[in-house]
Amino acid sequence: MIKWIFGNWKMFGSNRHVQHFSHFAAKERAHIPSHVHMGIAPPALYIPTLQNDLQQLGILLGSQNCSAHPEEGSFTGQISAQMLKDAQVDFVIIGHSECRTAGETENLIAQKVKTALEAQLNVILCVGETLDQLIAGQRDDILTHQITKGLSGGKVHLKDQQIFLAYEPVWAIGTGRIPEVDALKETLAFCRALLNTLNRNDTPLLYGGSVTPDNIRHIFEYTHADGVLVGKASLQPEDFFQLARNCP
Ligand code: 13P
Repeated sequence: MIKWIFGNWKMFGSNRHVQHFSHFAAKERAHIPSHVHMGIAPPALYIPTLQNDLQQLGILLGSQNCSAHPEEGSFTGQISAQMLKDAQVDFVIIGHSECRTAGETENLIAQKVKTALEAQLNVILCVGETLDQLIAGQRDDILTHQITKGLSGGKVHLKDQQIFLAYEPVWAIGTGRIPEVDALKETLAFCRALLNTLNRNDTPLLYGGSVTPDNIRHIFEYTHADGVLVGKASLQPEDFFQLARNCP
């Protein structure tokens, strides 16, 4: 069964880093098992630099966000889904908790999902509860709200494009903490059941938050995750490729 390994570089990187990543990827790609599909979302500036190398290696190229506006226009600082498609981007991450914290609303996120799908991009929709919400027993309500709302704009006819759902508990991002196996299993099963009621049975489910080459096997062996969304450990190609190699 396919396992998806997506990297989100966030606002890290440089020309030197990108070059090192490409060289390393070219050497290592052949050692990655064929059931492991990889993708990288660098800062937008490095998308054109990486495009050719990644495409040749069969590694998907992603964007960390896109504009909600379907048409071009006077929107300073924004990049449209159509422009990303033009740059041969394969997928876009939408609704990351860091963007939600910066003010992105559920309505905006739903609009972005719709716009990206209409531009024939694959979408990784991120959802997840904060620590306070977890402690208050609100996890399932938050996930229900974020998933239902996030996908409400996505009633677009899917051709080749695909939606992925990434469960990323906010308290696990960048903290070195991951949920207990039973809790993670239960939460992913909850997301799966909800997706089924929304007629999205074929949506691959990803887990994100402090994934490392050391815990990846554990995550896949004990849960039904179809893949992972990796932050810090995707930056150094040594870690990212080790992580992919460690995929059961
Ligand atoms: P870390 O892997 O650094 O915890 O980040 C996860 C994440 O935010 C991926 O989108």
